[in-house]
Amino acid sequence: MRVVARKQLPLRPAGPDTVAALLDWYDRERRDLPWRSKRGRRSDPYRVWLSEIMLQQTTVKAVIPFYERFLARWPTVEKLAAADLEEVLAAWAGLGYYSRARNLHKCAQAVVADHGGQFPRSEAGLLGLPGIGPYTAAAIAAIAFGEAATPVDGNIERVVSRLFSFKQPLPSAKRELKRLAASLTPQRRAGDFAQAMMDLGATVCSPKRPSCLMCPLQQDCHAHALGIEEQLPVKLAKQDRPVRYGTAFLALREDGHVLLRKRPEAGLLGGMLEIPSTDWGDDWLPVDLALTAQPVKADWWQVPGVVSHTFTHFKLEMMVLRAIVPTDASLTFWADAERCRWVPRRELHNAAVPSVMAKAIQHALKEH
Ligand code: ADE
Repeated sequence: MRVVARKQLPLRPAGPDTVAALLDWYDRERRDLPWRSKRGRRSDPYRVWLSEIMLQQTTVKAVIPFYERFLARWPTVEKLAAADLEEVLAAWAGLGYYSRARNLHKCAQAVVADHGGQFPRSEAGLLGLPGIGPYTAAAIAAIAFGEAATPVDGNIERVVSRLFSFKQPLPSAKRELKRLAASLTPQRRAGDFAQAMMDLGATVCSPKRPSCLMCPLQQDCHAHALGIEEQLPVKLAKQDRPVRYGTAFLALREDGHVLLRKRPEAGLLGGMLEIPSTDWGDDWLPVDLALTAQPVKADWWQVPGVVSHTFTHFKLEMMVLRAIVPTDASLTFWADAERCRWVPRRELHNAAVPSVMAKAIQHALKEH
């Protein structure tokens, strides 16, 4: 790493003055987000929890419409606990990482059944709930209950690694970055501190070309003084994702219904709806072999092009076959009829169809 010092080191170490500068900046510049309380007020734990679960692995911009729809439909933890899981999965469709939605529902039920409808008020208590890991427990404890807990997400890791010019690569640096962030967390306004760090990371201390001239922490930032802010945090090169291949079947009934199948509750996209497909393997199956998995006996037509989707651990390339079938068509053994249902095309947007399957359906119905 080439180092061109902009300033004489040592700077003052980051400490209470850094935190005060950050909180002043937050009071002026904080983003107006729908789950945030009015200035100086404590936030509703249900809203904080819902937003934090949605915000994992997803951007603020993508989350806002989902958050608003969820809150309008299930305004309290009791209402969400009483909801049908499949309706929750359907409302989540498009946000990805569907185990979060399953755990969200489980967690709401645990809060109602085991905690009288009140979220535990401490980081340790929150950690005992389904789907609440160290990051989320700390975020809720700090933002909703004012505990001096320290949530550390990717944005905060970036801010802290730059502030302290901490060069150990991620992911092994996570523990130490959390310790450094915790060393700054104030006893008062811990929730504002956490959200200020998140906002700073999202708007000023961006991964590429950070806006150091606008940064309230510029004076304290060791990476900036050394001119290495864009090189931090150091990340170990990610392994390329393996690619898997599958052939999916879109059966369109003459009365405009599409055949969907519920995936097993456990595993990837658990409990969500799919168009039936072959197993996803290391290579394409020749079409005649793929056809052994057809859910309905029909004249299948190969839709030109391929649908690609990136999951966390692999990339999927899917070929889609399409057929129009009579209204009384019966399902094959491979369809697993118990898990299948015919859904009217105009109802598809209300069904628990994950993005990858929405893409495949849209691809198959493009000109239809
Ligand atoms: N990302 C995750 N949690 C957040 C929050 N509370 N505010 C802004 N961005 C976030």
